Amino acid sequence: MRIIATKNYDEMSRAAASLIAAQVLQKPDSVLGLATGSSPIGAYKKLIQWYQAGALDFSACSTLNLDEYVGLTPDNDQSYAYFMRQNLFDHINIKPENLNIPDGTNPDAAGECARYDRVIEAFGGADLQLLGIGRNGHIGFNEPGSVFVRGTNCVQLTQSTIDANKRFFAREEDVPRKAYTMGIGGIMMARRVVLVACGEDKAEAVAKTVSGPITPEVPASILQLHRDFVLIADEAALSQLEK
Ligand code: F6R
Repeated sequence: MRIIATKNYDEMSRAAASLIAAQVLQKPDSVLGLATGSSPIGAYKKLIQWYQAGALDFSACSTLNLDEYVGLTPDNDQSYAYFMRQNLFDHINIKPENLNIPDGTNPDAAGECARYDRVIEAFGGADLQLLGIGRNGHIGFNEPGSVFVRGTNCVQLTQSTIDANKRFFAREEDVPRKAYTMGIGGIMMARRVVLVACGEDKAEAVAKTVSGPITPEVPASILQLHRDFVLIADEAALSQLEK
């Protein structure tokens, strides 16, 4: 594990974007595993700037997004497909046919999870998987539980996640209760995992991820076993780490 300590969100974002840019420069047909949420937005902004400056070419890249809410269509402005277009895809030269994200409109959960696993396996996993972390230690939407779930799965979101995400919706009742998420096996298959975390409210989850027991009660703790895991976090998110 490598920990990159940064002063603030902007520095964290620049460091994450630099790793992604280096990945694309070294391997133009990289498979990029991507996340939504507030943590990666700054990194996406930097990638867009560098693309617009002519420094990056995404035309041969493919993407594998972590998750999607069940029941939301891609044109729903709360869907993760919409988020990705708004915050990254519409601003770079990535090809629409190379974008992969679970299909939240597919009511057949088992069928959709199996389809997405076939996509992940066909790529042999992502070259670089970008992650955020939930306050409860979730990665993707793999919520704390009694087992690490290997494959893509349909999850019931916990109250902690619903509370954290309700800021994006008009009312709490509007937050979908279920999501499709890449499983822990799909995440661990990535050649490199980069987790970005910022702010005090992530400090406990970050400390447990780095030095707590490896347990499905803190899904991110399994990253201790990944051979190329990079944590990029600001001072507040690192504040509960043992000195
Ligand atoms: C998003 C995702 C989630 C978020 C996590 C942190 O695709 O899979 O695990 O990364 O909930 O969200 P933010 O960054 O909004 O604090």
